[in-house]
Amino acid sequence: MHLPKAELHLHIEGTLEPELAFALAARNGVTLPYADTEALRTAYLFEDLQSFLNLYYALMAVVRTEDDFAELADAYLARAAAQGVRHAEIFFDPQAHTARGVPLGTVVEGLGRALERSEEKHGISTQLIMCFLRDQSAESALETLEAARPHLHRISAVGLDSAEVGHPPVKFREVYERAGELGLRKVAHAGEEGPPSYIREALDVLGVERIDHGLRCMEDPDLVKRLVAERVPLTLCPLSNVRLRAVDTLEQHPLPAMLEAGLLCTVNSDDPAYFGGYVGDTFHAVHEALGLDREQLRTLARNSFEAAFLDHDEERRAR
Ligand code: ADE
Ligand code: ZN
Repeated sequence: MHLPKAELHLHIEGTLEPELAFALAARNGVTLPYADTEALRTAYLFEDLQSFLNLYYALMAVVRTEDDFAELADAYLARAAAQGVRHAEIFFDPQAHTARGVPLGTVVEGLGRALERSEEKHGISTQLIMCFLRDQSAESALETLEAARPHLHRISAVGLDSAEVGHPPVKFREVYERAGELGLRKVAHAGEEGPPSYIREALDVLGVERIDHGLRCMEDPDLVKRLVAERVPLTLCPLSNVRLRAVDTLEQHPLPAMLEAGLLCTVNSDDPAYFGGYVGDTFHAVHEALGLDREQLRTLARNSFEAAFLDHDEERRAR
């Protein structure tokens, strides 16, 4: 689908296609425990979020240098441009790299190099969102934020991702306060596998402006009313929800009911190399499986610009 759109929920590490993974493995002398790209693809059968995360973190071992990060981001931007993306707010997971000895500067400067050429090369404006891994400690998140200080000119916002259940937003109260003091905007994954109370906490305790996923708000009618009244954007990822078994089939995804309820829904690809499609593919899939008509697809595309961290002039240019 070529409607102009913004992508607001995209983990750059989740765009690592098997072909690039093998190319980087060869370049960096890393041995992957798969014979070839086909064998790797057969491992993409997930039970839940954790079973995906295990592979997602393991495969990152091949991405090591500034050039690798730049190549990864450039490959995503080229694919996104071909699917109508005009603006992308891109997550990255610094702790997943620093934990294996890759300096934060390598990650941010490598990604930054691809992003700063993106408008000219791909027609996509970009922002970078630094995510904390919620299954690691709050101290580690604070250290990461401090380590990012020299690179903050490249970073627009902080986010919260990784294994959700058992790691409520309140754990990261202090680091979000500090991020706010540093002028960063705030988002957080909530209500993907975790309960609706995590969505409330992300809003009330962390002060986030958008909820990533937010799928499980539908279990709490009062919360839905609040999200509608406050026009809190939700960055939904329907193909991810099917692959990670948050919903049984795409046909059963609550997106139509969420739109009907008046929620500010956006549609995104999350980890497209693993979940079977980039954002244009996702628009196409929800059109086919859920019967969303052109007008509803246009609403989703319009919502993505409303929910983006763009000022009015930037928004007009991107549309
Ligand atoms: N990291 C990458 N993809 C994720 C997802 N869908 N949920 C939480 N953390 C993630
Ligand atoms: Zn995500």
